[in-house]
Amino acid sequence: MPVQDPVVAEQTPAADHTIDQCWDRYTSEEHGVWDTLYKRQMKVLQGRAAPEHFKGLELLNLNDGGIPDFRRMNEKLEKLTGWTVVAVHGLIPNDVFFDHLANRRFVAGRFIRDADKLDYLPEPDIFHDVFGHVPLLTQPVFADYMQAYGEGGAKAARHDMIENLTRLYWYTVEFGLINTPEGQRIYGAGIVSSQSESVFALEGRSPNRVHFDLERVMRTDYRYDDFQQTYFVINSYEELMEATAGQDFDPIYSRLKGLPDFKASDIVESDHVYTRGTQEYAKAGGLA
Ligand code: PHE
Ligand code: FE
Repeated sequence: MPVQDPVVAEQTPAADHTIDQCWDRYTSEEHGVWDTLYKRQMKVLQGRAAPEHFKGLELLNLNDGGIPDFRRMNEKLEKLTGWTVVAVHGLIPNDVFFDHLANRRFVAGRFIRDADKLDYLPEPDIFHDVFGHVPLLTQPVFADYMQAYGEGGAKAARHDMIENLTRLYWYTVEFGLINTPEGQRIYGAGIVSSQSESVFALEGRSPNRVHFDLERVMRTDYRYDDFQQTYFVINSYEELMEATAGQDFDPIYSRLKGLPDFKASDIVESDHVYTRGTQEYAKAGGLA
């Protein structure tokens, strides 16, 4: 739990792990951090983020300034796709997370990072969760994908394949790229909410960029605390939806159990490769 947020610390979460956002209690410094991050990202995301991201920000009025009030944001979001955003303490158990998604509830942290450590994130804050994730929830196909993902949690648990399902989330929802007529764009929330990774993911020489393939992705390790070594690219959200919600994962999980994992930096024979990265960033030790 982020101890630096007293409004979070004083609350006992409900059975579904949610807390009250207590929007009225954000300080002007906290709103200021949001505004600084917002301006910084809007600058770097021009020509880099997927058009749906900007559309979503606009539809939800997230460019009004200050930390969004979930009550006002949810009125708009619920009308658009039936999704709502709920606040939680911090990281929550997998089954609770899946259950929220399956019921079209996106969980978000209440706290916002410190003004003097804008690039340091020990765990997802409200800027990552709301600026990064919520805009795409206004888009019907992506909204359905997120619900289907949540519904898929139980099957993955029965197969003891949560880690493999998590990789799918990681390489799509968090770090996905998409082909557009103007070139590759970012749709993954982990990239969209990071100034440095927005440039690295699209233009860096270091990472691989490979076309999305479900089983390939579910076999691939990832970097939890540094830039990714491989980004997976989709052509459309419909493609993602068909490849995942459109398939029964039972036989896939059974098959994957007998197969080795790939390293985060691997290029494999079946890959449709857009960029073969130099991996120079990772080889030099990354952030460490
Ligand atoms: N179709 C998957 C299954 O049968 C569930 C799923 C949907 C998983 C969408 C991820 C994304 O388990
Ligand atoms: Fe996230």
